[in-house]
Amino acid sequence: MINGERLLQHLEDLSQIGRNEATGGVNRFSFTSEEKQAIELVMTYMEEAGMVVTIDAIGNLIGTYGEGNETIMLGSHIDTVPEGGKYDGALGVLAAIEVVHTMHAQQLIPSKKIQVVAFKDEEGTRFDFGLVGSRAMAGLLTEGQLQFTDKNGISIEEAMKAFQLSPYPFEQPPRDDIKAYLEMHIEQGKVLENEGLPVGVVTGIAAPVWLEITVTGVSEHAGATPMPIRQDALTAASEMILAIEQLLNNTTGSVATVGKLTVSPNGTNVIPGKVTFTIDLRDIDESKINVLEATILQQLQQIATRRNVMLSSKVLQRVKPAKTDAVLQQQLATSIEKQGIQPYFLVSGAGHDAMNIAEIAPIAMLFVRSKDGISHNPLEYSSAEDIVIATAIFYDTVVELSK
Ligand code: GLV
Ligand code: MN
Ligand code: MN
Ligand code: MN
Repeated sequence: MINGERLLQHLEDLSQIGRNEATGGVNRFSFTSEEKQAIELVMTYMEEAGMVVTIDAIGNLIGTYGEGNETIMLGSHIDTVPEGGKYDGALGVLAAIEVVHTMHAQQLIPSKKIQVVAFKDEEGTRFDFGLVGSRAMAGLLTEGQLQFTDKNGISIEEAMKAFQLSPYPFEQPPRDDIKAYLEMHIEQGKVLENEGLPVGVVTGIAAPVWLEITVTGVSEHAGATPMPIRQDALTAASEMILAIEQLLNNTTGSVATVGKLTVSPNGTNVIPGKVTFTIDLRDIDESKINVLEATILQQLQQIATRRNVMLSSKVLQRVKPAKTDAVLQQQLATSIEKQGIQPYFLVSGAGHDAMNIAEIAPIAMLFVRSKDGISHNPLEYSSAEDIVIATAIFYDTVVELSK
Protein backbone atom coordinates (compact mmCIF):
# COMPACT_ATOMS: atom_id res chain seq x y z
CA MET A 1 0.00 0.00 0.00
CA ILE A 2 2.91 2.35 0.61
CA ASN A 3 4.17 4.56 -2.21
CA GLY A 4 7.63 3.15 -2.92
CA GLU A 5 8.33 5.57 -5.73
CA ARG A 6 7.73 8.57 -3.49
CA LEU A 7 9.90 7.13 -0.72
CA LEU A 8 12.81 6.37 -3.07
CA GLN A 9 12.56 9.85 -4.57
CA HIS A 10 12.70 11.38 -1.09
CA LEU A 11 15.80 9.30 -0.30
CA GLU A 12 17.43 10.45 -3.50
CA ASP A 13 16.57 14.12 -2.97
CA LEU A 14 17.73 14.16 0.65
CA SER A 15 21.02 12.50 -0.36
CA GLN A 16 21.80 15.46 -2.62
CA ILE A 17 22.12 17.71 0.42
CA GLY A 18 25.72 17.71 1.62
CA ARG A 19 26.78 15.44 -1.22
CA ASN A 20 30.43 15.48 -2.29
CA GLU A 21 30.25 15.30 -6.08
CA ALA A 22 33.76 13.87 -6.36
CA THR A 23 33.19 10.86 -4.10
CA GLY A 24 29.42 10.48 -3.83
CA GLY A 25 29.80 10.72 -0.04
CA VAL A 26 27.23 12.60 2.02
CA ASN A 27 28.44 15.12 4.61
CA ARG A 28 25.70 16.49 6.84
CA PHE A 29 26.73 17.50 10.32
CA SER A 30 24.73 18.99 13.15
CA PHE A 31 23.91 22.70 13.20
CA THR A 32 25.34 23.36 9.72
CA SER A 33 23.71 24.91 6.67
CA GLU A 34 23.51 21.44 5.09
CA GLU A 35 21.65 20.11 8.10
CA LYS A 36 19.35 23.12 8.07
CA GLN A 37 18.54 22.49 4.42
CA ALA A 38 17.88 18.82 5.18
CA ILE A 39 15.58 19.73 8.08
CA GLU A 40 13.64 22.11 5.85
CA LEU A 41 13.20 19.45 3.18
CA VAL A 42 12.14 16.73 5.61
CA MET A 43 9.75 19.20 7.21
CA THR A 44 7.94 19.57 3.88
CA TYR A 45 7.68 15.77 3.61
CA MET A 46 6.15 15.64 7.08
CA GLU A 47 3.63 18.33 6.23
CA GLU A 48 2.69 16.59 3.00
CA ALA A 49 2.13 13.44 5.05
CA GLY A 50 -0.45 15.27 7.15
CA MET A 51 1.71 15.93 10.18
CA VAL A 52 2.03 19.00 12.38
CA VAL A 53 5.72 19.87 12.61
CA THR A 54 7.60 21.17 15.67
CA ILE A 55 11.22 21.47 16.75
CA ASP A 56 12.05 20.69 20.37
CA ALA A 57 14.59 22.26 22.75
CA ILE A 58 17.66 20.48 21.36
CA GLY A 59 16.54 20.77 17.74
CA ASN A 60 14.90 17.38 17.13
CA LEU A 61 12.49 17.67 14.21
CA ILE A 62 9.15 16.15 15.21
CA GLY A 63 6.12 15.47 13.04
CA THR A 64 2.89 14.60 14.83
CA TYR A 65 -0.06 12.79 13.30
CA GLY A 66 -3.31 12.20 15.16
CA GLU A 67 -4.11 12.93 18.76
CA GLY A 68 -4.05 11.23 22.11
CA ASN A 69 -2.19 11.07 25.39
CA GLU A 70 -0.19 8.07 24.26
CA THR A 71 2.44 8.15 21.54
CA ILE A 72 3.84 5.67 19.08
CA MET A 73 7.20 7.17 18.18
CA LEU A 74 9.09 6.38 14.97
CA GLY A 75 12.54 7.83 14.48
CA SER A 76 16.09 7.89 13.29
CA HIS A 77 18.53 10.61 12.18
CA ILE A 78 19.42 12.71 9.14
CA ASP A 79 22.99 13.64 10.02
CA THR A 80 25.89 11.58 8.63
CA VAL A 81 29.44 10.53 9.34
CA PRO A 82 32.15 12.16 7.18
CA GLU A 83 31.68 10.76 3.67
CA GLY A 84 28.66 8.73 4.68
CA GLY A 85 26.09 6.96 2.56
CA LYS A 86 22.54 7.93 1.78
CA TYR A 87 20.64 5.30 3.82
CA ASP A 88 22.11 5.35 7.34
CA GLY A 89 19.52 7.21 9.41
CA ALA A 90 17.80 8.90 6.47
CA LEU A 91 15.97 5.70 5.52
CA GLY A 92 14.44 5.35 8.99
CA VAL A 93 13.12 8.90 9.03
CA LEU A 94 11.82 8.86 5.46
CA ALA A 95 10.23 5.41 5.75
CA ALA A 96 8.47 6.52 8.93
CA ILE A 97 7.12 9.57 7.11
CA GLU A 98 5.98 7.30 4.28
CA VAL A 99 4.13 5.12 6.79
CA VAL A 100 2.24 8.16 8.11
CA HIS A 101 1.68 9.51 4.61
CA THR A 102 0.05 6.19 3.68
CA MET A 103 -2.13 6.19 6.81
CA HIS A 104 -3.17 9.75 5.99
CA ALA A 105 -4.01 8.82 2.39
CA GLN A 106 -6.09 5.89 3.74
CA GLN A 107 -7.78 8.32 6.12
CA LEU A 108 -6.71 6.08 8.97
CA ILE A 109 -7.11 7.88 12.27
CA PRO A 110 -4.87 6.25 14.89
CA SER A 111 -6.12 5.92 18.46
CA LYS A 112 -2.68 7.01 19.72
CA LYS A 113 -0.76 9.89 18.26
CA ILE A 114 2.11 9.00 16.00
CA GLN A 115 5.29 11.04 16.08
CA VAL A 116 8.11 10.84 13.58
CA VAL A 117 11.41 12.20 14.89
CA ALA A 118 14.58 13.15 13.03
CA PHE A 119 16.95 13.17 15.99
CA LYS A 120 19.68 15.78 16.33
CA ASP A 121 23.25 14.56 15.79
CA GLU A 122 23.19 10.79 16.11
CA GLU A 123 26.60 10.25 14.55
CA GLY A 124 28.64 12.52 16.80
CA THR A 125 30.78 13.70 13.91
CA ARG A 126 30.96 17.36 14.80
CA PHE A 127 31.39 17.32 18.58
CA ASP A 128 32.88 13.82 19.05
CA PHE A 129 29.70 13.20 20.99
CA GLY A 130 26.71 11.55 19.43
CA LEU A 131 23.06 10.59 19.96
CA VAL A 132 22.53 14.14 21.20
CA GLY A 133 18.85 14.47 20.31
CA SER A 134 17.78 11.10 21.69
CA ARG A 135 19.86 11.72 24.81
CA ALA A 136 17.96 14.96 25.32
CA MET A 137 14.59 13.32 24.75
CA ALA A 138 15.42 10.60 27.28
CA GLY A 139 16.43 13.24 29.85
CA LEU A 140 20.07 12.10 29.73
CA LEU A 141 21.69 15.24 28.28
CA THR A 142 23.41 17.44 30.86
CA GLU A 143 24.00 21.19 30.59
CA GLY A 144 27.72 20.44 31.00
CA GLN A 145 27.66 18.41 27.79
CA LEU A 146 26.42 21.49 25.93
CA GLN A 147 29.93 22.90 26.47
CA PHE A 148 31.53 20.22 24.28
CA THR A 149 33.23 21.90 21.33
CA ASP A 150 33.89 21.13 17.69
CA LYS A 151 37.29 21.43 16.02
CA ASN A 152 36.88 25.20 15.73
CA GLY A 153 36.08 25.62 19.41
CA ILE A 154 32.35 26.20 18.85
CA SER A 155 30.30 24.62 21.62
CA ILE A 156 26.98 22.83 21.26
CA GLU A 157 25.49 25.73 23.22
CA GLU A 158 26.81 28.25 20.69
CA ALA A 159 25.72 26.09 17.77
CA MET A 160 22.23 25.88 19.27
CA LYS A 161 22.02 29.66 19.61
CA ALA A 162 22.99 30.06 15.96
CA PHE A 163 19.99 27.82 15.22
CA GLN A 164 17.67 30.03 17.33
CA LEU A 165 17.46 27.42 20.09
CA SER A 166 17.88 28.58 23.67
CA PRO A 167 20.19 26.33 25.64
CA TYR A 168 19.84 27.73 29.18
CA PRO A 169 18.15 26.62 31.25
CA PHE A 170 18.02 23.49 29.15
CA GLU A 171 14.49 22.22 29.53
CA GLN A 172 13.27 19.08 27.89
CA PRO A 173 9.91 18.02 29.33
CA PRO A 174 10.00 14.37 30.48
CA ARG A 175 8.32 11.99 28.03
CA ASP A 176 6.22 9.38 29.76
CA ASP A 177 3.73 9.17 26.91
CA ILE A 178 5.82 7.01 24.56
CA LYS A 179 4.20 3.58 24.51
CA ALA A 180 6.46 2.23 21.79
CA TYR A 181 9.51 3.49 19.89
CA LEU A 182 10.26 1.88 16.54
CA GLU A 183 13.28 2.50 14.34
CA MET A 184 13.82 1.12 10.88
CA HIS A 185 17.48 1.15 9.80
CA ILE A 186 19.83 -0.49 7.35
CA GLU A 187 21.65 -3.42 8.93
CA GLN A 188 25.18 -2.13 8.21
CA GLY A 189 26.40 -5.72 8.41
CA LYS A 190 26.28 -8.91 6.33
CA VAL A 191 24.04 -11.16 8.41
CA LEU A 192 20.80 -10.68 6.44
CA GLU A 193 22.63 -10.90 3.13
CA ASN A 194 24.17 -14.21 4.19
CA GLU A 195 20.76 -15.46 5.31
CA GLY A 196 19.19 -14.36 2.01
CA LEU A 197 16.59 -12.26 3.84
CA PRO A 198 15.43 -8.68 3.12
CA VAL A 199 14.65 -7.78 6.73
CA GLY A 200 15.34 -8.81 10.32
CA VAL A 201 14.18 -8.02 13.83
CA VAL A 202 16.75 -6.55 16.23
CA THR A 203 17.02 -8.14 19.66
CA GLY A 204 19.65 -5.87 21.19
CA ILE A 205 21.98 -2.99 20.39
CA ALA A 206 25.69 -2.93 21.21
CA ALA A 207 26.74 0.41 22.64
CA PRO A 208 29.87 2.46 22.23
CA VAL A 209 32.26 3.95 24.72
CA TRP A 210 34.39 6.62 23.09
CA LEU A 211 37.74 7.53 24.63
CA GLU A 212 40.25 10.16 23.62
CA ILE A 213 43.86 9.26 24.35
CA THR A 214 46.64 11.83 24.43
CA VAL A 215 50.26 10.71 24.22
CA THR A 216 52.85 13.36 25.00
CA GLY A 217 56.53 12.91 24.16
CA VAL A 218 59.12 15.43 23.04
CA SER A 219 59.23 17.19 19.66
CA GLU A 220 62.83 17.27 18.49
CA HIS A 221 64.98 17.47 15.42
CA ALA A 222 64.49 14.44 13.14
CA GLY A 223 68.14 14.56 12.02
CA ALA A 224 69.97 15.47 15.19
CA THR A 225 68.23 13.24 17.77
CA PRO A 226 69.70 9.72 18.10
CA MET A 227 67.17 6.88 18.06
CA PRO A 228 67.71 5.54 21.59
CA ILE A 229 66.92 8.84 23.36
CA ARG A 230 63.76 9.81 21.48
CA GLN A 231 60.39 10.24 23.14
CA ASP A 232 58.37 9.84 19.98
CA ALA A 233 54.63 10.16 20.67
CA LEU A 234 53.65 8.66 17.31
CA THR A 235 55.67 5.45 17.53
CA ALA A 236 54.33 5.02 21.07
CA ALA A 237 50.76 5.61 19.84
CA SER A 238 51.32 3.12 17.02
CA GLU A 239 52.33 0.43 19.47
CA MET A 240 49.27 1.26 21.57
CA ILE A 241 46.91 1.01 18.60
CA LEU A 242 48.32 -2.39 17.63
CA ALA A 243 48.02 -3.57 21.24
CA ILE A 244 44.33 -2.64 21.22
CA GLU A 245 43.83 -4.57 18.00
CA GLN A 246 45.60 -7.60 19.41
CA LEU A 247 43.58 -7.53 22.61
CA LEU A 248 40.30 -7.36 20.68
CA ASN A 249 41.43 -10.08 18.26
CA ASN A 250 41.58 -12.34 21.29
CA THR A 251 38.09 -11.42 22.51
CA THR A 252 34.83 -12.67 21.02
CA GLY A 253 31.98 -10.32 20.22
CA SER A 254 33.61 -7.04 21.24
CA VAL A 255 35.10 -4.58 18.75
CA ALA A 256 37.40 -1.59 19.07
CA THR A 257 38.44 0.98 16.49
CA VAL A 258 40.94 3.80 16.37
CA GLY A 259 39.39 6.01 13.71
CA LYS A 260 40.84 9.43 14.34
CA LEU A 261 44.42 10.50 14.93
CA THR A 262 46.08 13.89 15.27
CA VAL A 263 49.83 14.23 15.08
CA SER A 264 51.55 17.33 16.35
CA PRO A 265 53.39 19.31 15.15
CA ASN A 266 52.97 17.15 12.00
CA GLY A 267 56.23 18.08 10.28
CA THR A 268 58.36 15.84 8.08
CA ASN A 269 61.56 16.64 9.92
CA VAL A 270 60.13 16.89 13.43
CA ILE A 271 59.78 14.00 15.87
CA PRO A 272 56.08 13.94 16.85
CA GLY A 273 55.72 15.45 20.31
CA LYS A 274 52.03 14.87 20.80
CA VAL A 275 49.45 12.48 19.41
CA THR A 276 45.78 12.21 20.21
CA PHE A 277 43.64 9.34 19.03
CA THR A 278 40.14 8.10 19.69
CA ILE A 279 38.99 4.63 20.69
CA ASP A 280 35.49 3.39 19.86
CA LEU A 281 34.86 0.28 21.98
CA ARG A 282 31.61 -1.73 21.73
CA ASP A 283 29.82 -4.76 22.99
CA ILE A 284 26.27 -5.82 23.70
CA ASP A 285 27.35 -6.60 27.29
CA GLU A 286 28.20 -3.59 29.43
CA SER A 287 30.31 -5.57 31.90
CA LYS A 288 32.55 -6.77 29.06
CA ILE A 289 33.01 -3.18 27.90
CA ASN A 290 34.03 -2.14 31.41
CA VAL A 291 36.62 -4.91 31.72
CA LEU A 292 38.04 -4.21 28.25
CA GLU A 293 38.20 -0.48 28.89
CA ALA A 294 40.21 -1.04 32.07
CA THR A 295 42.52 -3.56 30.36
CA ILE A 296 43.16 -1.24 27.42
CA LEU A 297 44.03 1.69 29.67
CA GLN A 298 46.36 -0.51 31.72
CA GLN A 299 48.16 -1.80 28.62
CA LEU A 300 48.50 1.69 27.17
CA GLN A 301 50.00 2.92 30.42
CA GLN A 302 52.58 0.11 30.36
CA ILE A 303 53.59 1.06 26.83
CA ALA A 304 53.79 4.73 27.78
CA THR A 305 55.98 4.00 30.79
CA ARG A 306 58.34 1.79 28.80
CA ARG A 307 58.63 4.40 26.06
CA ASN A 308 59.02 7.33 28.43
CA VAL A 309 55.98 9.28 27.18
CA MET A 310 53.00 10.60 29.11
CA LEU A 311 49.51 9.24 28.73
CA SER A 312 46.17 10.77 29.54
CA SER A 313 42.66 9.65 28.69
CA LYS A 314 39.21 11.13 28.66
CA VAL A 315 35.75 9.69 28.07
CA LEU A 316 34.02 11.39 25.14
CA GLN A 317 30.78 9.46 25.42
CA ARG A 318 29.41 6.41 27.12
CA VAL A 319 26.15 4.79 26.03
CA LYS A 320 24.37 1.80 27.55
CA PRO A 321 23.69 -1.28 25.41
CA ALA A 322 19.95 -1.85 25.03
CA LYS A 323 17.58 -4.78 24.66
CA THR A 324 14.51 -4.47 22.49
CA ASP A 325 11.02 -5.21 23.79
CA ALA A 326 9.79 -8.79 23.35
CA VAL A 327 6.19 -7.81 22.55
CA LEU A 328 7.26 -5.28 19.92
CA GLN A 329 9.71 -7.81 18.43
CA GLN A 330 6.81 -10.22 18.11
CA GLN A 331 4.64 -7.60 16.42
CA LEU A 332 7.34 -6.97 13.83
CA ALA A 333 7.75 -10.73 13.34
CA THR A 334 4.01 -11.07 12.71
CA SER A 335 4.10 -8.27 10.13
CA ILE A 336 7.08 -9.95 8.46
CA GLU A 337 5.23 -13.27 8.28
CA LYS A 338 2.28 -11.55 6.60
CA GLN A 339 4.67 -10.79 3.71
CA GLY A 340 5.51 -14.48 3.45
CA ILE A 341 8.98 -13.93 4.92
CA GLN A 342 10.54 -15.97 7.69
CA PRO A 343 11.19 -13.69 10.72
CA TYR A 344 14.87 -13.60 11.61
CA PHE A 345 16.35 -12.15 14.79
CA LEU A 346 19.76 -10.49 15.06
CA VAL A 347 21.75 -8.03 17.18
CA SER A 348 22.88 -4.59 16.09
CA GLY A 349 26.60 -3.89 16.15
CA ALA A 350 26.02 -0.24 15.24
CA GLY A 351 24.54 2.28 17.64
CA HIS A 352 21.13 3.88 17.25
CA ASP A 353 18.95 6.55 18.88
CA ALA A 354 16.79 3.65 20.08
CA MET A 355 19.47 2.93 22.73
CA ASN A 356 18.65 6.15 24.53
CA ILE A 357 14.89 5.94 24.07
CA ALA A 358 15.12 2.45 25.65
CA GLU A 359 15.69 4.29 28.93
CA ILE A 360 12.15 5.72 28.83
CA ALA A 361 10.08 3.43 26.57
CA PRO A 362 9.89 -0.03 25.02
CA ILE A 363 11.84 -0.07 21.76
CA ALA A 364 12.10 -2.23 18.66
CA MET A 365 14.07 -2.07 15.43
CA LEU A 366 13.55 -3.43 11.94
CA PHE A 367 16.72 -3.98 9.90
CA VAL A 368 16.91 -3.84 6.11
CA ARG A 369 19.52 -5.89 4.24
CA SER A 370 22.70 -3.96 3.38
CA LYS A 371 24.66 -4.83 0.24
CA ASP A 372 28.02 -6.35 1.20
CA GLY A 373 27.38 -5.09 4.73
CA ILE A 374 28.98 -1.77 3.78
CA SER A 375 28.02 1.37 5.69
CA HIS A 376 29.60 4.66 6.78
CA ASN A 377 30.82 4.70 3.19
CA PRO A 378 29.45 6.22 -0.04
CA LEU A 379 28.97 2.65 -1.36
CA GLU A 380 26.30 1.95 1.26
CA TYR A 381 23.32 0.39 -0.53
CA SER A 382 20.00 -1.29 0.11
CA SER A 383 17.83 -2.30 -2.85
CA ALA A 384 14.57 -0.58 -3.75
CA GLU A 385 12.72 -3.91 -3.37
CA ASP A 386 14.07 -4.48 0.14
CA ILE A 387 13.27 -0.90 1.17
CA VAL A 388 9.72 -1.12 -0.13
CA ILE A 389 9.01 -4.46 1.55
CA ALA A 390 10.55 -3.29 4.82
CA THR A 391 8.43 -0.13 4.78
CA ALA A 392 5.29 -2.19 4.12
CA ILE A 393 6.17 -4.34 7.15
CA PHE A 394 6.83 -1.24 9.21
CA TYR A 395 3.49 0.19 8.11
CA ASP A 396 1.64 -2.94 9.19
CA THR A 397 3.26 -2.88 12.63
CA VAL A 398 2.53 0.82 13.16
CA VAL A 399 -1.10 0.38 12.11
CA GLU A 400 -1.49 -2.58 14.49
CA LEU A 401 0.10 -0.70 17.38
CA SER A 402 -1.95 2.43 16.86
CA LYS A 403 -5.33 0.70 16.67
C1 GLV B 1 26.82 5.47 14.44
O1 GLV B 1 26.38 5.05 13.40
C2 GLV B 1 27.46 4.59 15.34
O2 GLV B 1 26.94 3.48 15.53
O3 GLV B 1 28.52 4.98 15.80
MN1 MN C 1 25.81 5.72 11.32
MN1 MN D 1 22.37 5.37 11.86
MN1 MN E 1 24.58 4.64 14.32
